[in-house]
Amino acid sequence: MKDLLATVKSNALIAENIYMITLTLPESAGKIKGGQFVNLSTGEGSHLLRRPLGVMKVEGDDISLCYQLKGEGTHKLSEAKAGDALKILLPLGNGFDLSGKKNIVVIGGGVGVFPLIATIREHCGDKKFYSYIGFRSKASVCLLDELEKSEKLTVVTDDGSFGGKGNAVEAYLMDAENIEADCIIACGPPVMLKVLKQKLSERGNKIPCYVSLEERMGCGVGACLVCVCKKTDGSNARVCKDGPVFDINEVEL
Ligand SMILES: Cc1cc2nc3c(=O)[nH]c(=O)nc-3n(C[C@H](O)[C@H](O)[C@H](O)COP(=O)(O)OP(=O)(O)OC[C@H]3O[C@@H](n4cnc5c(N)ncnc54)[C@H](O)[C@@H]3O)c2cc1C
Ligand code: FES
Repeated sequence: MKDLLATVKSNALIAENIYMITLTLPESAGKIKGGQFVNLSTGEGSHLLRRPLGVMKVEGDDISLCYQLKGEGTHKLSEAKAGDALKILLPLGNGFDLSGKKNIVVIGGGVGVFPLIATIREHCGDKKFYSYIGFRSKASVCLLDELEKSEKLTVVTDDGSFGGKGNAVEAYLMDAENIEADCIIACGPPVMLKVLKQKLSERGNKIPCYVSLEERMGCGVGACLVCVCKKTDGSNARVCKDGPVFDINEVEL
């Protein structure tokens, strides 16, 4: 893990309320796995805690993150300009471990799509991805060129204004019989992951499924316990340090 002062290369709106920021690191951060995240300061002199954001793309010493405007932190971040310096702690968390897997179903909803893109980019040379991606509406659809690295891509929207109408879990379940997958990975809003767990259980799913969780975070490195989630064995886990990726059967959703 490194704490670096990165330089903003670009920071632009790519869809409704969604920005992509690319930062140049002063040195290599080492290998970054899809599903790992960074803790990013929100602007010069900001009193705010750093914000956790999933890594979307790494190219040399440039790292790209995509973020949805939410509250004070992400609004402040959207004001960052090329040349500004931001503090970045990375890489954090465990990321997706796809060793030994060949045919992977990807289920992503909303901002959950971004860390999944990093995972597809990392492995698309030697693994096949079957992606089911849900956005709110046409205005929030973005990064299709990255998602098209999948063997098969299905995009749906809540209102049907782009692709089919529906959500990513439904889109996968309608097609599940046609895919010989050996792994499922998913990231999206809590309700999406909860429904996924319930539906997979109802179907007697035997394919390993890994989900990336989002929790409010403080330190991002396992020290403050702000991000604790409940495991199904009754114990607790820190989403930042023990996750954010967990076996879906291991955590309460
Ligand atoms: C591992 C991880 C990866 C993430 N990756 C992305 C991503 O790639 N793109 C993206 O748009 N968002 C992502 N998020 C969510 C993002 O961190 C929050 O939307 C952001 O911190 C909101 O900050 P804010 O100041 O604008 O909002 P506020 O609501 O004003 O934030 C107040 C506080 O709550 C925390 N917080 C608020 N919402 C969340 C949330 N959903 N998850 C975690 N902390 C939150 C903030 O960090 C801050 O400390 C990720 C969260 C986690 C935990
Ligand atoms: S954010 Fe501090 S322990 Fe996870």
